[in-house]
Amino acid sequence: MKKKQDNARLMQEIEQIGIVPLVTLRSDEEAVPLARALQEGGVPVAEVTFRSPFALEGMKRIHSELPDVMLMAGTVHNVEQAEASVAAGCVGIVTPSFDEAVVDWCLDNDVMVLPGTAAPSDVEKAYDRGLRRAKFFPAEAYGGVKTLKALSGPFAEMKFLPTGGVNLKNSAEYLMQKNVFAVGGSFPVPSDSQKAQDWDGIVTACKLARHVAEPIILAKKQDFVIA
Ligand code: 3PG
Repeated sequence: MKKKQDNARLMQEIEQIGIVPLVTLRSDEEAVPLARALQEGGVPVAEVTFRSPFALEGMKRIHSELPDVMLMAGTVHNVEQAEASVAAGCVGIVTPSFDEAVVDWCLDNDVMVLPGTAAPSDVEKAYDRGLRRAKFFPAEAYGGVKTLKALSGPFAEMKFLPTGGVNLKNSAEYLMQKNVFAVGGSFPVPSDSQKAQDWDGIVTACKLARHVAEPIILAKKQDFVIA
């Protein structure tokens, strides 16, 4: 029988890294070098999205070649995709909206889930199911930091992963929010670097993202007031 995974520990690891890179694969072959670049850049997490037909095979390759990279499935729209990605080695599922069937399947199967939430009604559904972590998407289009601050009143126990329009420049402001546990997005994987298979470019983007995140994570850990 499969060993029960420790979702609280995985969540802590994400919080410690502070960044969840969105990976949309352009081929099966690029999965491993791209994930290795994330790891080398200090961001050993990959949210491989179902936005390309290479997602599942890519997950399998990353899982077998780079077992230390925390593998998540992104843009999961249904239970079939969730099941297939866990079978391919993913430890977590990220959804663009609050999909009840996917969330409940994850909860029933002890799979870490970060459901997409944008409005208080979505956050309430997550909260009612006992979740205290969710994705906030699309962050910039739905009011960004201002909305997160507003949500911190009624949902004081909830922490978010803002994604959608998060970049190197605004990631600091997001991370400084007390209800943000990490930021997500495609910015650690610049599309030009990916197209050119310039893995060093991805290493650099990840190092820069970490450079921004690290002092904020440290300050938050020590309850140092920065904003
Ligand atoms: C997501 O699904 O998290 C977003 O589409 C990421 O958006 P970005 O490309 O602006 O980071």
